[in-house]
Amino acid sequence: MTIRCCIFDLDGVLVDTARYHYLAWARLARGLGFEFPPACEASIRGLSRMDSLEVVLRAGGMERRFAPEERERLAAEKNAFYLESVAAMTPAEVLPGCVEFLRSLRGRGIGRVLGSSSKNAGLVLDRTGLRPLFDDVVDGTHLTRAKPDPEVFLLGASRVGAEPAQCVVFEDAAAGIEAAHRAGMRCVGVGTGAATAAAELRIASFADFTPGALAAGLDAAGGVDK
Ligand code: G6P
Ligand code: MG
Repeated sequence: MTIRCCIFDLDGVLVDTARYHYLAWARLARGLGFEFPPACEASIRGLSRMDSLEVVLRAGGMERRFAPEERERLAAEKNAFYLESVAAMTPAEVLPGCVEFLRSLRGRGIGRVLGSSSKNAGLVLDRTGLRPLFDDVVDGTHLTRAKPDPEVFLLGASRVGAEPAQCVVFEDAAAGIEAAHRAGMRCVGVGTGAATAAAELRIASFADFTPGALAAGLDAAGGVDK
C-alpha cells in the first residue's frame, strides 16, 4: 500500500499553538482564583474546547460550580485570550521542517489535508501562510464529534478520495492518535513524550524529515505493504 494522503493535526504539530491554548486556559484559571500549572498542559492537549474547560475546572475543584451558560461564557473568554496570541502569529512560527516536508509531499503527488478540531484552525493557517500547502482543510467548524472520535480524519480522507489505509496522520496528542487508529489510519507521533507512545512511528520534529524517511519508518514498523 502506498501513501496517498498525509493528514496533519495543527496545534502542536505544525505550530506551537498548544502553548497558546495552555496559556489562555492558565489565564482563565487565574481569573477564577486558581493556578493551572504547566505540568497540566499535557492533560488538555488535543481535547475540544469544552472538554478542556472541564479538565481545567476540575483542576481548580470547580467542576460543579458553573451552569451550562456560564461554561459557554468561560469558554468564550478563553477563546478571546487565545485569539490575542493568534493575532500576533507570523510565518516564522511554523515549526522547523514543516514547510519543506509539505512541499516534498506535494512534489511526489501525495495529498495533504489539515485535520484539526480547532474552530480557529483557518485563522492560524492564514496567519502563518500555511494554507496554500494543503489540498483541503477539515477543522472544528466542520465536525460534530471531537477527537478521539475518528470523524475529522475520515472526513479529511474522503475530501481527497483516499482510503483510510492509504492515509498517514501526524499527531502530537494521545486523543488524536487514538482517533487516527479508530479511522483505520497509521499515525506518526510528533514529539517523543508519553503522549505519542501509541504511534507507529515517532519523530522529534519535521527538521530533516522526508517522505522517503516516512515510508521507510512505517515499513520498518510493519505498517506498509509493498
Ligand atoms: C485542538 C487543540 C486543543 C483545542 C481544540 C479546540 O484540538 O489541540 O487544545 O482545545 O483544538 O480548539 P478551539 O480553537 O476551537 O478552541
Ligand atoms: Mg495537536
